[in-house]
Amino acid sequence: MSELEDLDRQVVWHPFTQQTEWSPLVIARGEGNYLFDDAGRKYLDGVSSLWCNVHGHQHPRLDRALRDQLEKLAHSTFLGLTHEPGIRLAAALIEVSPRSLSRVFYSDSGSAAVEIALKQSFQYWQLRGRPTKQKFLRLGEAYHGDTLGAVGVGGIELFHRIFGPLLVSSIAIPTPAGTDGSDALERLEAELSRHSHEIAAFIFEPLMQGAAGMLKHPAGFLKKAAALCRTHHVHVILDEVATGFGRTGTLFACEQEGVEPDLMCIAKGIAGGYLPLAATLATEEIYSAFLGAHGDMKHFFHGHTFTANPLACAVGLESLALLQESSLPNARARIPDIAGALARILDHQSVKEIRQVGMMIGIELHAISGRFLGREVCEQARRHGVILRNLGDVVVWMPPLTLQPADLALLETATVRAIDTVSRETEPTRFT
Ligand SMILES: Cc1ncc(COP(=O)(O)O)c(C=O)c1O
Repeated sequence: MSELEDLDRQVVWHPFTQQTEWSPLVIARGEGNYLFDDAGRKYLDGVSSLWCNVHGHQHPRLDRALRDQLEKLAHSTFLGLTHEPGIRLAAALIEVSPRSLSRVFYSDSGSAAVEIALKQSFQYWQLRGRPTKQKFLRLGEAYHGDTLGAVGVGGIELFHRIFGPLLVSSIAIPTPAGTDGSDALERLEAELSRHSHEIAAFIFEPLMQGAAGMLKHPAGFLKKAAALCRTHHVHVILDEVATGFGRTGTLFACEQEGVEPDLMCIAKGIAGGYLPLAATLATEEIYSAFLGAHGDMKHFFHGHTFTANPLACAVGLESLALLQESSLPNARARIPDIAGALARILDHQSVKEIRQVGMMIGIELHAISGRFLGREVCEQARRHGVILRNLGDVVVWMPPLTLQPADLALLETATVRAIDTVSRETEPTRFT
């Protein structure tokens, strides 16, 4: 064990990690779609470093944008002050977002972007004289982050149940994934018809629920659900933290069904995976409810120390340009090839189902009691030079949008070999 691995074991507590059964892998550098460990071994970043590095690593244009900004200003608060990168990125985001959205409220994580959307919706109804609209609708198995407000609109048993007593409860609409969506829509309509006077908003991920296990929604669900909310005067909050920035083949997933939300949460790919940045985009109608004289105390009482950090915003601006010029067109060209690779993987006897929306993919394995197959496959894949991460028995592919044909070939081979090895084992494998 290297000195760094040893020190990590002594002093660090990692997220979502059972520390007793974990072997640290120290990443020393990144280049293009690849990561390198401290022993110089090379790995394809098959999950874009938790779905963020949409252009891979150390992109020269993003490096330059960061360095240029560093020459000018690394940080100044956005509370009471402003700066060029924050202003220009907001304008660029509005330009490419659904037409309904005209205001950008920055934060620094997807969870914070969700908290902000919930609070803006809640306060909006208070300000507009509808104080009973205090509840939120969400989907079954929803995941919107790990802070308490976001957990309150979450529905993943394993992550969320233990915190139940701490949470504001939300109303679950069954996930439409794996169905034609009619049950979910009926339940949504029933809740809205009976309780819309108590409901502030419906929050959900468009097209695909990511952390829930890559649960793909039936075509049309997004559009119909949004229309129902509109009819019943309930806000539509779209969580595009995972689906945004080209992941589904369009800049934002909601474009694919022509839906214009009231609030939209974005994070992950926003700054190309360089720095923590997120935003909640709002309509002018929501924004204008918070306007008044200073003494009216209508303003939105929320903000973070690193809101709109200039370095992050400068990289975000360049990242958005790069996405439109090259990374998104590249992703579109790759998506059919990925579908071809997945069709071959589906033939594997250990694979139960594969769900794909663009470059957002879940490969579900047949569960075996007492085994953690998804995790075992991801551990094995490392031996073949690919970093993957699972969600239960689902092996996730979220590669950089800059994926090249040779990278895809490696991704496919490593995944198949890893599944082969794990399927042959009768006992769980341990990666050392
Ligand atoms: C859909 C969705 N919303 C919110 C979040 C939370 O984002 P963060 O981890 O940046 O707080 C995630 C993270 O995976 C996510 O997938």
